[in-house]
Order: sequence, then C-alpha cells, then structure tokens
Amino acid sequence: MAARLNICFVHLFVLVAQLVAQNTHLMTMSIMSGWQFQCANSTCLPFATIRMLNIRNCQIACLDQVQCQAITFHQSSSNCELFSNVLNQNRNISINAGTITMIDMSGTRFSNGSITVSTTATTTACSSLFLDPTTYSTGSTPFSMVVADVNNDNHLDIIVANSVSNNVGILFNIGNGTFRSQTVYSVGTNPRSVAVADVNNDNKSDIVVANYNSNTTSVLLNAGNGTFLNQTIYSVGANPVSIVIADMNNDNKSDIIVANYNSSNIGILFNTGNGTFLNHSIFEVGSYPISLVVADVNNDNKPDIIVAKEYSNNISIILNMNNGVFLNKAIQVNSTHIISITVADVNNDNKPDIITVNCDANSIGILLNAGNGTFPNQITRSVGAYPRAVAVGDVNSDNIPDIAVVNAAVSNVGILLNTGNGTFLNQTTYSVGDTPASVALIDVNNDNKPDIIVANAGSDEINVILHC
Ligand SMILES: *[C@@H]1O[C@H](CO)[C@@H](O)[C@H](O)[C@H]1NC(C)=O
Ligand SMILES: *[C@@H]1O[C@H](CO)[C@@H](O)[C@H](O)[C@H]1NC(C)=O
Ligand SMILES: *[C@@H]1O[C@H](CO)[C@@H](O)[C@H](O)[C@H]1NC(C)=O
Ligand SMILES: *[C@@H]1O[C@H](CO)[C@@H](O)[C@H](O)[C@H]1NC(C)=O
Ligand SMILES: *[C@@H]1O[C@H](CO)[C@@H](O)[C@H](O)[C@H]1NC(C)=O
Ligand SMILES: *[C@@H]1O[C@H](CO)[C@@H](O)[C@H](O)[C@H]1NC(C)=O
Ligand SMILES: *[C@@H]1O[C@H](CO)[C@@H](O)[C@H](O)[C@H]1NC(C)=O
Ligand SMILES: *[C@@H]1O[C@H](CO)[C@@H](O)[C@H](O)[C@H]1NC(C)=O
Ligand SMILES: *[C@@H]1O[C@H](CO)[C@@H](O)[C@H](O)[C@H]1NC(C)=O
Ligand SMILES: *[C@@H]1O[C@H](CO)[C@@H](O)[C@H](O)[C@H]1NC(C)=O
Ligand SMILES: *[C@@H]1O[C@H](CO)[C@@H](O)[C@H](O)[C@H]1NC(C)=O
Ligand SMILES: *[C@@H]1O[C@H](CO)[C@@H](O)[C@H](O)[C@H]1NC(C)=O
Repeated sequence: MAARLNICFVHLFVLVAQLVAQNTHLMTMSIMSGWQFQCANSTCLPFATIRMLNIRNCQIACLDQVQCQAITFHQSSSNCELFSNVLNQNRNISINAGTITMIDMSGTRFSNGSITVSTTATTTACSSLFLDPTTYSTGSTPFSMVVADVNNDNHLDIIVANSVSNNVGILFNIGNGTFRSQTVYSVGTNPRSVAVADVNNDNKSDIVVANYNSNTTSVLLNAGNGTFLNQTIYSVGANPVSIVIADMNNDNKSDIIVANYNSSNIGILFNTGNGTFLNHSIFEVGSYPISLVVADVNNDNKPDIIVAKEYSNNISIILNMNNGVFLNKAIQVNSTHIISITVADVNNDNKPDIITVNCDANSIGILLNAGNGTFPNQITRSVGAYPRAVAVGDVNSDNIPDIAVVNAAVSNVGILLNTGNGTFLNQTTYSVGDTPASVALIDVNNDNKPDIIVANAGSDEINVILHC
C-alpha cells in the first residue's frame, strides 16, 4: 500500500494526512459507468483478471498493485480487470453497458464524472472465491444431505438426514441463498442416506431415505407445497447406507437403488408408477458396499451402477444389459478404504469418470473412463485428513468441473481446481463445522456460480458458503 501511495503521491498529497487517522485508504478515480476500457494493442491487455464481489473490492485490488492504473469491472461476471500501461491509450474507450471503468486520476485523461471513493481498510474484500460460511442448525448427526427444489419455487432447498434424530429436515431457501429453520419428518432408525426425485410422476420432488438400523427405506411423497405425506416403508437388506433414485428399466418411472452394507449386495426397488415400489431385487457385489452412484459408463444409453466397497481394492461396475438384466464387473483400484464415490466427466471427453474418496489415504482417486466402461488411467490427489465426501461443479467458470471435498478430521472443505484434462491443482481449504460428512457444490442464490453446502455430522449444522 505504501508503494501505491507513493505512485499516487502527487494526487493524494492533500488527502493522506486526514486519512491516516481514520485508518482508511483513499483513491480518486474517474468513474465511467457503461464504458469499457479498450486497448490499442495486445500489450495493454489486463495484467490480472480476478473475481470480486463488487466494484469497491475491485478498486481495492487495484490499490494493492503498484502497477495498476485502471480497472474495468464487469457487473455480469464480477470480473475485475486490472490494467497498467494505460498512458498511451489516450481516449480509447468503447461503450459496454455491463461494465464500469475507472481510471486513476494520476493519469488525468478522463476527468468527466470524477468521484472520490474512500473505503475503510477493514472492508472485507472477497479475497478468495468464497465468502464466510453461514450456519444453520439441523437435527442430531446429519450424515447425508441433498440440495433440491422441493416446493417448486425455483429455489434450491436443503434436505438432510438427521441420523440420530431419526428424521429428515428440510431447510427452505427464501430465494437468495438464505434458508429457513428446518421442518422435520419422521423416518426409520438412523437414516444414513437421502435422495430426492419425483417418484410418482406429479412433477414434485419426493424424498427417499435409507434407514441403517431398521433395514428399510422410507418414501415421503410431496403433498404439493413442500409438505410431505407420512413415510411409506419398504424392507431392504441389512444396514442400507447409500441410496439413489434412477430409472433402471427404461419405463420412465424412477426406481430406488440401495447399498445394503451388511448383506454384501445392492437392491433395486422397481417403481410401479404411482410411487409405490415392488420388493427389492438383489445383486451381489461383495462385502461392505458403502456408496453407490448411477451413470452410463459404457455409452449404451442405459444407466449402470457403480458401487464402492469399504474394504475392497475393487469397485463393482454393474452394467445394465437390458431392462433390468445386469452384469457385474470389477475394476481394480489401488485404494483400500474407499468411503464414498461419485461420477463426473472431469476431462471433457463426454465420458463419465469416477471419483473415489480414499479416507485412510487422505486422498481422492480420479479414474478416467476409456469410453467402454474401463478405467485404465487412475490418478490420486492428496487432500486433508479423513476425507468423507466429494461434489463436483464449475467453481471458476471455465466450463470444466472442479471438485469439493470435505475433510472430516480437520473440519474443512477443500476445492481442487481442474486444469482441464482431469488433473487438479492442490486443494484450497475453507473452514466448516465439526466432522463434515456430506457436501454439495450448487448455485443456491441464482448468480450462476456454485456455492458450497456442507452438512457437519459432529456439530449438527449445515454450512452455506456462498461464491463471491
Ligand atoms: C482503439 O482501440 C481499437 C481496438 O483495440 C483500435 O482499433 C483503435 O485504433 C484504437 N483507437 C485509438 C484512437 O487508439
Ligand atoms: C502497443 O501500444 C503501446 C502503448 O501505446 C506501445 O508502446 C507499443 O509500441 C504498441 N505495440 C505495438 C506492437 O503496436
Ligand atoms: C461529462 O460529460 C457529459 C456528457 O458529455 C456532460 O454533460 C457533463 O457536463 C460532463 N461533466 C463534466 C464534469 O465535465
Ligand atoms: C436474503 O433475504 C433476507 C430477507 O429478505 C435478508 O434478511 C437477507 O439479508 C438476504 N441475504 C442475502 C445474502 O442477501
Ligand atoms: C437389520 O439387519 C441386521 C443384520 O442382519 C440385524 O442384526 C438387525 O437386527 C436388523 N434390524 C432390524 C430392525 O430388523
Ligand atoms: C400444503 O398442502 C397440504 C395438503 O394439500 C395441506 O394440508 C397444507 O395445509 C398445505 N400447506 C401449506 C403451507 O400450504
Ligand atoms: C403421520 O405420522 C404421525 C406421527 O408419526 C401420526 O401421528 C399421524 O397420525 C400420521 N398421519 C397419518 C395420516 O397417517
Ligand atoms: C399403485 O399401483 C399399484 C400397482 O399398479 C397398486 O397395487 C396400488 O394400489 C397403487 N397405489 C396407489 C396409491 O395408487
Ligand atoms: C497402483 O499403484 C502402482 C504403484 O504405484 C502402479 O504401478 C499401478 O499402475 C497402480 N494401479 C492402478 C490400477 O492404478
Ligand atoms: C476399452 O477401450 C480401451 C481404449 O480404447 C481399450 O484399450 C480396451 O481394450 C477396451 N476394453 C474393452 C473391454 O473393450
Ligand atoms: C494435464 O495437463 C497438465 C498441465 O497442463 C499436464 O502436466 C499433464 O501431464 C496433463 N495430463 C494428462 C493426463 O494429459
Ligand atoms: C501440492 O501438494 C503436494 C503434496 O501435499 C506438495 O508436495 C506440493 O508442494 C504442493 N504443491 C503446491 C504448488 O503447493
């Protein structure tokens, strides 16, 4: 800052004395709303482009950089462009309604509309990609959480399985990423996993839950305004831990797939069409299936099931051959203690890749799909202690999916930015509550940027971390 003030010394001379006492920084700039600073040639492209919450923070960023002489703030993208070398670009600006440009008055080229902007030094610039977390109470031990619109208001709500309270909680989004206190509905004993989708074709999101200690799944149908009917209970195998909703037999009805931890199998409950389900069909997968996900891994337009088994060094790929006929294949992995699994195309080849959470190894595994359901290239990335869950979303607006991972033992969430081909930078961490167990990366305040939502099993709360 001292260096910057020296650069601006001539101009700020009168102002500095009075400002020191107030602990404020001050910079005088001309402001030109609706004008875009234009370079005459490529030598004066912005030397930095950063995401900033607002134009004031963009100015602060400029003040922090000795060479910064001008900024352009794009309101739609929140991109703050910092320019140096502007002196010879005389009077070259163009109209662009979505931007605000400010030129340092020491350049004195643009005097029209000159304003004085002062900002206190304590203004919280959005120094990273995310704001500080907001906290919401849940029931006891929220292990699993999903984010979905359950009252058809186009705002995403939070649905959480409170494992020790034996209920699900719904936190309604009031529209700007702020949530109401939870509304609860009773389910079975120790709900461990929750999923949301329309199971009775009425265009309303229903809730299904895997109840670990009652060996059942609960289906809660949406009554139409975000209120839910009492649970309907279906028996499954021993200690269901992971639940997914997907149409497995191509009849346009959502089926339920559940991993039965102590039965060494998964069960599929086929939907009769009105939200009632048949007895579950069993597929053996090996000991301790702990996490499952559904995706078409071999590009035959049929959803397959990928199952991680807690103490196994292989992952089961259950290929969907034809309307409910399945073929079980195993793929070897180097990790021995996978606790969670997800699927996303991380290298932009339109094939779903697998991401594993390796809790003992403090790493995540990225298994790149060759296209036919084989995963020959496997990469691991170190994360924090005892990672518990991952989510995928485009955090830095480069159209490539990045990864969020919750590190349970160190109570933080790590963001790993994707370099574009499925390799990831080291994680940047953000503190959350105690023992985070579930994470989502999704836009809850309608600004087209994914926010981080975390359920903290140890502190009985949700953290909402909005993107800047
Ligand atoms: C202004 O910038 C444009 C585009 O970079 C360039 O074509 C034009 O020659 C410049 N005008 C002046 C007066 O420098
Ligand atoms: C680009 O503009 C800068 C500043 O006006 C000037 O010094 C430089 O020579 C120009 N470069 C080219 C290649 O025109
Ligand atoms: C700025 O420009 C506008 C439009 O050209 C003009 O009406 C106004 O008087 C100018 N203001 C100053 C302070 O020069
Ligand atoms: C969201 O809206 C509520 C009520 O209008 C308001 O109290 C709250 O400050 C807003 N939050 C944000 C982050 O804009
Ligand atoms: C659930 O299954 C386990 C394992 O078979 C069994 O020990 C337990 O008693 C069952 N619980 C209920 C409520 O049936
Ligand atoms: C929601 O719908 C149910 C069933 O139609 C009704 O009992 C309940 O009062 C409604 N609640 C609200 C808040 O509208
Ligand atoms: C719903 O469940 C509650 C408590 O679990 C019970 O008191 C109520 O009678 C049930 N309602 C219906 C319609 O079954
Ligand atoms: C749903 O469909 C099944 C089979 O067609 C039928 O047995 C059941 O009564 C229906 N349930 C409701 C609530 O309509
Ligand atoms: C497992 O690790 C070994 C040694 O690091 C490596 O040679 C091998 O290719 C890995 N296997 C897989 C399937 O990634
Ligand atoms: C899958 O595709 C890879 C890469 O194209 C190829 O090496 C491999 O043999 C294929 N495997 C099967 C089972 O088709
Ligand atoms: C991905 O890109 C990085 C950086 O550009 C490079 O180091 C790495 O080798 C690439 N990996 C693959 C699998 O192409
Ligand atoms: C990334 O993490 C690895 C392992 O934790 C570490 O050795 C390496 O120095 C880190 N790289 C950067 C650029 O921080």
